Amino acid sequence: MNTAAPDDETTTAAGDGWSEDMELAPVHPGERSSAVHDPDREGERLQKVLARAGVGSRRVCEEMIEAGRISVNGAPVQVQGMRVDPTTDKIAVDGVRIELRDDRVTYALNKPAGVITAMSDDRNRPTVGDLVGDLAPGLVHVGRLDQDTEGLLLLTNDGELAHRLAHPSYEVRKTYLAQVSGSVPRDLHRRLRSGVQLDDGPVAVDAFRVVDTHAGQSVVEVVLHEGRKHIVRRLLAEVGLPVSRLTRTAIGPIELQRMRTGSIRKLSREELGTLSELVGL
Ligand code: URA
Repeated sequence: MNTAAPDDETTTAAGDGWSEDMELAPVHPGERSSAVHDPDREGERLQKVLARAGVGSRRVCEEMIEAGRISVNGAPVQVQGMRVDPTTDKIAVDGVRIELRDDRVTYALNKPAGVITAMSDDRNRPTVGDLVGDLAPGLVHVGRLDQDTEGLLLLTNDGELAHRLAHPSYEVRKTYLAQVSGSVPRDLHRRLRSGVQLDDGPVAVDAFRVVDTHAGQSVVEVVLHEGRKHIVRRLLAEVGLPVSRLTRTAIGPIELQRMRTGSIRKLSREELGTLSELVGL
């Protein structure tokens, strides 16, 4: 299966809605509680609890509620915004109980060049899924790096976090180091900041600087908050600087640091806190 978070670049299958990776257990009829729900009571919003359990983004979960696919303690939910207690309530999707333990995890991977951003591949090419193995159930990659691009890729089993990090409306900044042929014109920074026209519309960078120039090659740093396919390569080619090597070094506040190629690390609680805050979670 090729799971992927809704993507800023090309999207693979799945992402929205139901995931085969979810841990599910049927609700035993004897377990059903007859508790009547008071919508004003304390608790967490149902769609938030569902999204955290990996059912889908909050928007997708709201659609599932709307479609009558969700039940709480055996009773179908008919209104949005119901509050539930994830420690005691039994929540089911299409009649199948979902596991509400908070086992959300987010990892950073230093993706090597040559590896495709997919959890599996029917053509047997090396994938991110091969590197991740069975680290945690339900992990999806957040966005995508080209096969030839290396560097920071986030993986998470938190559906809402994945959705928000990848969705263009949250404008999460990504930083890239690109090795380019040619010397960089003096006024390029201004041109990139004001926007360059590409086939599929204009693109403007948030920041740009030349890190190094040597023997007809330069290393430049580009920061942008959108992720159309091959965006950095296409942008730099358009201004006469073809890219020979591309590395993503940061996603918002998360930095690649000194991670070895192919290595994976769990984000610290502090990193996860700043990342979540950035996307309003
Ligand atoms: N821009 C690119 O051109 N490639 C990537 O992999 C990411 C951003």
